[in-house]
Amino acid sequence: MRVGILTISDRAARGEYEDRSGPLLREKIEDQGWDVIRFDVVSDDQAEIEEHLKRWTDSGDVDLILTTGGTGFSPRDRAPEATRAVVERLAPGLGEAMRAASLEVTPHAMLSRAVAGIRGKTLIVNLPGSPRAVEENLTVILPALPHGVDLLKDHPSAEAGHAIHQSPTED
Ligand code: MTE
Repeated sequence: MRVGILTISDRAARGEYEDRSGPLLREKIEDQGWDVIRFDVVSDDQAEIEEHLKRWTDSGDVDLILTTGGTGFSPRDRAPEATRAVVERLAPGLGEAMRAASLEVTPHAMLSRAVAGIRGKTLIVNLPGSPRAVEENLTVILPALPHGVDLLKDHPSAEAGHAIHQSPTED
């Protein structure tokens, strides 16, 4: 799995604040044995976020982009809007699962507007900004990511992933 990690934060981009969430994400992804091949910090500017997402997806060598930050209600929080603007298909189950699981931990989970979607053969997923939120939300989606990315690539082995969960009555 080839992964891009994009931290979205005005303060981190200006160097006023150390980005801890991006490096934490990198560590968690590398723990899976996956390769982080793009890593950057951008401001909350929507155009700048879109430009990164398009460039990384259209390079054709990134399977998964994880963004962190900019999903809340602050006026500058634009990660979901930027993601929606560049994806061709939404993947709402990922955001639904993250919010459902996170509500067990904090009522503030409902304040994340994180979305996920597909552009070409790349899956893009927003995560909230705090290191704690990154860890909790990533844990929820990790088990589904390999199969999701396999399906995007039209990989023959993706069918095997379906079969595991089929009930005896299904074809
Ligand atoms: N989800 C989990 N699991 N843990 C958290 O600590 N923080 C919430 C929410 N989701 C949180 C979480 C908070 S406080 C906010 S405001 C939203 O994510 C949006 O965060 P963001 O603006 O940093 O993207």
